[in-house]
Amino acid sequence: MKILITGGAGFIGSHVVRLFVNKYPNYTIHNLDKLTYAGNLANLSDIEKKPNYAFVKGDIVDAGFINELLNREKYNAVIHLAAESHVDRSITNPLEFVMTNVIGTVNLLNAAKTLYKAANSSFTKFYHVSTDEVYGALGDEGMFTESTSYDPHSPYSASKASSDHFVRAYHDTYGLPVVISNCSNNYGPNHFPEKLIPLCINNIKHNRPLPIYGKGENVRDWLFVEDHATAIDKIFHKAKLGSTYNIGGHNEWTNIDVIRLLCDMMDSKLGRPAGTNQKLITFVKDRAGHDLRYAIDATKLKNDLGWVPSVTFEQGLERTVDWYLNNEEWLNNVTSGNYSNYYNEQYVKR
Ligand code: NAD
Ligand code: DAU
Repeated sequence: MKILITGGAGFIGSHVVRLFVNKYPNYTIHNLDKLTYAGNLANLSDIEKKPNYAFVKGDIVDAGFINELLNREKYNAVIHLAAESHVDRSITNPLEFVMTNVIGTVNLLNAAKTLYKAANSSFTKFYHVSTDEVYGALGDEGMFTESTSYDPHSPYSASKASSDHFVRAYHDTYGLPVVISNCSNNYGPNHFPEKLIPLCINNIKHNRPLPIYGKGENVRDWLFVEDHATAIDKIFHKAKLGSTYNIGGHNEWTNIDVIRLLCDMMDSKLGRPAGTNQKLITFVKDRAGHDLRYAIDATKLKNDLGWVPSVTFEQGLERTVDWYLNNEEWLNNVTSGNYSNYYNEQYVKR
């Protein structure tokens, strides 16, 4: 197997690349990434010298480059994670999300289709990694299943929904062998600290305010990133072509409860008196179009493929906090420069 993984220098992609490189020494893994602000090769320093791994720098929006790469390397499969992934940035700059998430995905689909249709083709699968946000927002009851209608609200989720539709269209129209998974909110090591959990870990460390949108009552279903990677591994190898799987942790929390738990955990880790960090909680202007609640029903994945999450939220959060406290250099590097400017601008505007 020679597999192209896109977005492998990002948060989830780096965990998927690591899992595949270590678990399948007979596979060749190419990691294609543009290295945007969210891409960081330091995420893969432990495996970068492995003989079955190579990094390819490039932009999925560049159709000529993508066609040439897939035609030259004749991959057997693509696992597509590259995306613009932050909802707040999509509100500021929607077009960038259309370019990468929609046009970039269609460029990859076109190049994969050419490989698949070639004589003696050995192209077996296009695996598209998507999000639960395509289903929209839930009220107090219910969960997203694989047959829930799409109802995206943010420019980010609209772009991901569009990319999912294109992937299914290439299956139905051209017979391209595809698989899609839609996952809930991930957390864990290497998460870029503009997202809620790593942002607050970093701010607690520096005694800075913890910006909670609205009243903090929005609910997210949190999954440890390594569990997402094992689900992708199972789905990649075992799912029926053309199928979709929801991935989630059955682990719903309001934002305010997540941050209170984090504050208390970090009080004891940083040797601060109980209750110190909760004083940093600051309610700020709500996100525009803020989805109230996400909750994934992952029964199909459990019943068909036997996947369940391996850690509780408390275990995963503790591993995450420890990782950030032990990887100060990583955190300092990614919070300097452009990111720092972006963060400061956004925060001042609230
Ligand atoms: P991320 O922002 O951390 O990483 C995205 C990666 O894609 C980065 O390495 C970036 O450099 C690369 N990239 C961006 N634009 C590119 C381009 N034009 N060409 C090539 N590479 C490019 O994102 P993430 O949180 O790891 O998410 C990965 C995927 O999983 C995304 O498709 C996202 O929609 C999906 N997803 C994320 C979550 C989550 O909670 N983070 C949950 C479900 C699904
Ligand atoms: O559900 C899966 C999605 O989860 C992924 O597809 C996205 O790529 C990923 O970014 C994530 O989206 P969210 O918008 O849910 O994640 P974020 O960390 O930005 O926000 C989590 C919740 O916390 C959300 O309700 C908004 C809130 N929030 C976020 C930030 C950054 C705050 O209250 N304050 C903040 O500063």
